[in-house]
Amino acid sequence: MPWRTEPIRGAREAERGGGWETGGAASAVGLRKLPRADLHLKDYAPGRTGKTSGKEEDIMTNRLDGKVAIVTGGASGMGASHARGIVAHGGKVVIGDISDDAGRQIAEELGDSAVYTHLDVTSPEDWAQAVELAEQTFGTLNVLVNNAGILNGGSLDEYTPESWDLVMAINAKGPFLGLKSCVGALRRGKPASVINISSAAGMQGVAGMHGYTASKYAVRGLTKSAALELAGQGIRVNSVHPGNIATPMTQAMIDQVGGPAAGDRDASLLVRPAEPAEVTALVVYLASDDASFSTGGEFLVDGGITAGSVY
Ligand SMILES: NC(=O)c1ccc[n+]([C@@H]2O[C@H](COP(=O)([O-])OP(=O)(O)OC[C@H]3O[C@@H](n4cnc5c(N)ncnc54)[C@H](O)[C@@H]3O)[C@@H](O)[C@H]2O)c1
Repeated sequence: MPWRTEPIRGAREAERGGGWETGGAASAVGLRKLPRADLHLKDYAPGRTGKTSGKEEDIMTNRLDGKVAIVTGGASGMGASHARGIVAHGGKVVIGDISDDAGRQIAEELGDSAVYTHLDVTSPEDWAQAVELAEQTFGTLNVLVNNAGILNGGSLDEYTPESWDLVMAINAKGPFLGLKSCVGALRRGKPASVINISSAAGMQGVAGMHGYTASKYAVRGLTKSAALELAGQGIRVNSVHPGNIATPMTQAMIDQVGGPAAGDRDASLLVRPAEPAEVTALVVYLASDDASFSTGGEFLVDGGITAGSVY
């Protein structure tokens, strides 16, 4: 996959120019640069507040008693965390993924409350099997977490139509097939909740991630059309927009193209990547009936990255 950061970095630096941090212009209009410490969210990391261990599975409640979920991409990263979090809160989970060994291992770890199934989100047949498995094993289906996704990128010169098709098939068509395949069971299992994992890249563009950005905007749009259609049928549909979360996906990107450049807004605002559990806490809430008045919504868990610019 052609990742090339230099032209993008170069463009960013050119855009930023040389004059942004000169004290003269800023003080002339009464502006001051915020101390960097004011922008850091590290003090709110799990464990630092003393309120949580940082592991969603360590916070046991019965918030999801009676809930049965399918979590796609549940073998890794955030999907695995969501599966663990759902069980920790009293729910049952069907873990779907194409990474069979890792998925089975997580299901085994979770015992009777979890089963694994091979679920390629681009396959209608796999979806049908997953729905059947949920209803047969746990008696119902009332939560769908469309989480599976891939990330690719490259400049417009390099990015191929094949890369575009692949990311759109998994990230955008996958959630559509999930909704289409699950809607009957979700109606039977209502009140039900669909959680579509979009991204901060579904709220604003990311240079060099054309297909990924488009796919995550598509997920946000699909969430709206489905929420409107299903509101009267006892099914809520919301999108979740994570920022920079520490998972194998982001690690692979860092390995290929490096982290945010020194001085970048991303580097200053998101001084730490979030733990998957910090996204799971939101997913558990949206899956539960506590979120009964939320549908068609966009839920940010992005460390403030889409809030605006930091000068
Ligand atoms: N990590 C981040 O910073 C971040 C930020 C915003 C959004 N997201 C989104 O969150 C979701 C989870 O990402 P993650 O960071 O945990 O990634 P990850 O790479 O750790 O996990 C993704 C999982 O999806 C699975 N998968 C890939 N293709 C699949 C397919 N066709 N069918 C079924 N499963 C498939 C993989 O096997 C893997 O287990 C993705 O939709 C991603 O786009 C991630």
